[in-house]
Amino acid sequence: MRAAFRFLVPLLVLLALVAYAASELMIRQAHRWAERDLSARSRLVLASAREGLSGRLAAGDRVRTRQILDEMVRDERLLGARVCGPGAEPPLRTAAFPPELACDRLPLRAPGATHDAVVGLPGGTVHLSVLPIGADDGEVLGDLVLVHDMSYLDRRAAETRKTTFVAFALVGLLAAASTLLASRFSWLSWTAELRRLLAAPFHSLGGAAPAASRTFQPVLADVRELVSRLASEEVSGGGGRWSAERLRNVLRTRLHGEGVVVVANREPYIHERAADGSVRVVYPASGLVTALEPVMRACSGTWVAHGSGSADRDTVDAHDRVRVPPGEESYALRRVWLSEQEERGYYYGFSNEGLWPLCHVAHTRPEFRAADWEQYRRVNARFAAVVAEEAPGPDAVILVQDYHFALLPRMLRQRLPRATILAFWHIPWPNAERFGICPWERELLDGLLGSSIVGFHTQAHCNNFLESVDRFLESRIDRERQAVVMGGRETLVRPYPISIEWPARWLAGLPSAERCRADYRRELGLPADALLGVGVDRLDYTKGIVERLQAVERLLDRFPEFRGRFFFAQLASPSRTLIETYRRLNDEVERVAASINARFGNGGPGPILLMRRHHEPPDIFRAYRAADVCYVSSLHDGMNLVAKEFVSARDDLRGVLVLSRFTGAARELAEALVVNPYDLEEASSALAAALSMAPEEQEQRMRALRGMVAEFNVYRWAGRILLDATRLRQRERLSVRLSDAWRSGEPGRGGDSGPPDEDVHR
Ligand code: G6P
Repeated sequence: MRAAFRFLVPLLVLLALVAYAASELMIRQAHRWAERDLSARSRLVLASAREGLSGRLAAGDRVRTRQILDEMVRDERLLGARVCGPGAEPPLRTAAFPPELACDRLPLRAPGATHDAVVGLPGGTVHLSVLPIGADDGEVLGDLVLVHDMSYLDRRAAETRKTTFVAFALVGLLAAASTLLASRFSWLSWTAELRRLLAAPFHSLGGAAPAASRTFQPVLADVRELVSRLASEEVSGGGGRWSAERLRNVLRTRLHGEGVVVVANREPYIHERAADGSVRVVYPASGLVTALEPVMRACSGTWVAHGSGSADRDTVDAHDRVRVPPGEESYALRRVWLSEQEERGYYYGFSNEGLWPLCHVAHTRPEFRAADWEQYRRVNARFAAVVAEEAPGPDAVILVQDYHFALLPRMLRQRLPRATILAFWHIPWPNAERFGICPWERELLDGLLGSSIVGFHTQAHCNNFLESVDRFLESRIDRERQAVVMGGRETLVRPYPISIEWPARWLAGLPSAERCRADYRRELGLPADALLGVGVDRLDYTKGIVERLQAVERLLDRFPEFRGRFFFAQLASPSRTLIETYRRLNDEVERVAASINARFGNGGPGPILLMRRHHEPPDIFRAYRAADVCYVSSLHDGMNLVAKEFVSARDDLRGVLVLSRFTGAARELAEALVVNPYDLEEASSALAAALSMAPEEQEQRMRALRGMVAEFNVYRWAGRILLDATRLRQRERLSVRLSDAWRSGEPGRGGDSGPPDEDVHR
């Protein structure tokens, strides 16, 4: 847009100059034509009156001569006529003849010669023709002076100037408008293109889809898939937007009010003892908690998790349970205590030094140690025992969360054969080759296949999982139904892109975005008009925090106009700090931030504001609302809910999301500026584009993003999983009844052999 203005200003100046020159040219030409015309008229006037005039003049008949002159000036443009010469004294002239044009002051070339001139008088410009009046014998009797009014030409000139300027101004405006539109369109062309592509599932576009522009391009195939899924759900009687109420209804009507049990390593509320002995509740930095907590509020039931807070033991009842959320208790949190050795092996070791780097393509080598594996198995078994205790009955619905519990579904299946076990993997699933690095790849796959459904964020992760099963286990894969059949049981493998609650409850107590903007800048010591970027993460190497800071540095290198004007607030919660890689990352982030600040600080604090501490959600939402741009630069991320939270925080429809294409979120949030975080040129260009984006475009994009997140919210995520689970349960029950009937009604067919495996869940 700025470039467009740089082009427009000289264009408008040029147009004004051209307009001026053109109008002057036209006026001069009109004058020339008028002079020629008036000279010819004067000669005509004289020709028609010559005889009478010369006769009367020769006869010295002043009265008649004057009458002839008066007749001549009936022509409306003839201002006056006079005769100069020997017989014309005292002056012989018409009444309106300009007194300034006395005979002795006429610009005569030579007596008796024809002469035309244009003379400026106080009353306006006049055209003067001096024409000799000849007698029949050739003697010159005097000069006829005819004065034509030319002031109409001045009026015409003024009009010509005005019209030309108006015409050129219109041309200029049109040029300006089309240039701005063209430049604007170049930013939005991909959006239009996307819309066209998105229309494909509905309108069945024939042939190949048109190639999309490469500018910050979203992952079109996934967005299209998502929208077509939404459309098909609507066709099959969706029932409007998903909400906590609608989710509760599903539980009540389809699952007969059975409360669900969620198992996740991280608990939604951590009780910590402060230095003064008081207990405070901490809301952990975890995408999993962000997503699941609102679901549990809606569903009630029990959340089973590791009790990791220093005051956790002091706040539970005799059964290690505590009702949460504090103050608005709606579900139970059941805490499981782990020894230091268990936590080191299961959480830090196998989960976070083994599986985490294995599943994320972020170039950190996974570490697999037999001792850690042992603890992992042990802790999974301990959780299985606790969950079985918490299950409301044999048909319980159990949601097993994430990579900490790959073995749990199988262990639960052994304890609760009729339960509906849904496992959700919150991080990416690698391809089979990479997954094969893990020495216990078979056990992990087999553990997960104890579930009724295994869910991932994206279809690509489902495909990788099926490919891994195919490579490492003896099983039958039904590609059409996306299911694995093993040992007589079927497990569906499905994509369920996770999301956040809508509307975000943290917004309720916050001031307006405008207020947050002003307050936040003041608190950070920034000028009121500073441009602000924000990043919100756990300090994790998968989040691309170093690359993000480098993109800011590149922005300031390439676009000096942002130096001293743009600041980037990085809210970073320390995470998994017992692991060496995380400690190294912490130092690296600090070093990079310090070096950028030293380069661009100009004696002041510098552009990077690194805030390494735990941030509670209201603080984070204030930062989102204060920012001009939020940059999510993950090198690899299952979904990334920061991107969605930023969108949910911007009810003012302002702010731009710059989003890594390696997040699951990029597959849904097409109106973000989607970038490759490794490509610092692209990332810094996107930041510059975001910071220069017109408010109307921000609004347009943010409205579309908000529509998407509102529609694909976390209630919908949970609702879809639960609805799929109920369908599966109905089929399972039906097949049990059928197989009972088979055994009792048709003994001749082989007694208890039953129908073949693959028919069981059809
Ligand atoms: C990711 C994982 C979650 C985890 C969160 C925070 O989002 O998928 O399971 O809770 O990181 O990590 P932490 O190790 O602190 O629980």
